[in-house]
Amino acid sequence: MRVASEIALRFYLTIGFVALLGLLALGATSTDAAIRRLGGNWQRLHRIVYGIGLLATFHFFIQSKADVYEPTLMAGLFILLMLLRLAHWRGFPLASPLVLGSIAVLAALATAAVEFAWYGLATGVPPGRVLAANLQFAFSIRPAWWVLATGLGAAAAAAARSQLRTPDAGQRGRRAARATA
Ligand code: HEM
Repeated sequence: MRVASEIALRFYLTIGFVALLGLLALGATSTDAAIRRLGGNWQRLHRIVYGIGLLATFHFFIQSKADVYEPTLMAGLFILLMLLRLAHWRGFPLASPLVLGSIAVLAALATAAVEFAWYGLATGVPPGRVLAANLQFAFSIRPAWWVLATGLGAAAAAAARSQLRTPDAGQRGRRAARATA
């Protein structure tokens, strides 16, 4: 038992250490001079930030005791950001409230899935009960809902922005028409 707990302890410390080394490498290569010297390699090197995010989140999970509410919330927000990145790479318009809303729903479902998987695989807590707790609001609002709210907030902001922009564009159009008349 002691051996197992020591290994688990060292493992999470090692993960934290590797994440820290990664962050130091990114910091050290981000001076103006270093960015210039590295050229296109800077971008390639800085892609390790995704791995660092993953390691840091995992480190957060395994240093927690039975309750992984906070790490689940952080994992959910990380998933939300990664889905936005993926959508951008795939050419989806991130100014679209529909795209942002869909990503919010996907991220929230993935958050509930991560929570379910963690409790099922790493703890003695019945994962089905944790999943069901997502639909009970008297005790706590589960992380998946906060991830959904964050994602939908971004979608609402995009919708408001496009509403504000439309009359402005119309005005500019009318002004241009008057100027040419
Ligand atoms: C040499 C590197 C690292 C070591 C040795 C280390 C060690 C630890 C230890 C011992 C804890 C548990 C503290 C407690 O029980 O209250 C902890 C918690 C934590 N660590 Fe690390 N860590 C390292 C790097 C990192 C990095 C790079 C990140 C994030 C980028 C990180 C994020 C966290 C977070 C979020 C917690 C939970 C804090 C909380 O519960 O309030 N750690 N770490």
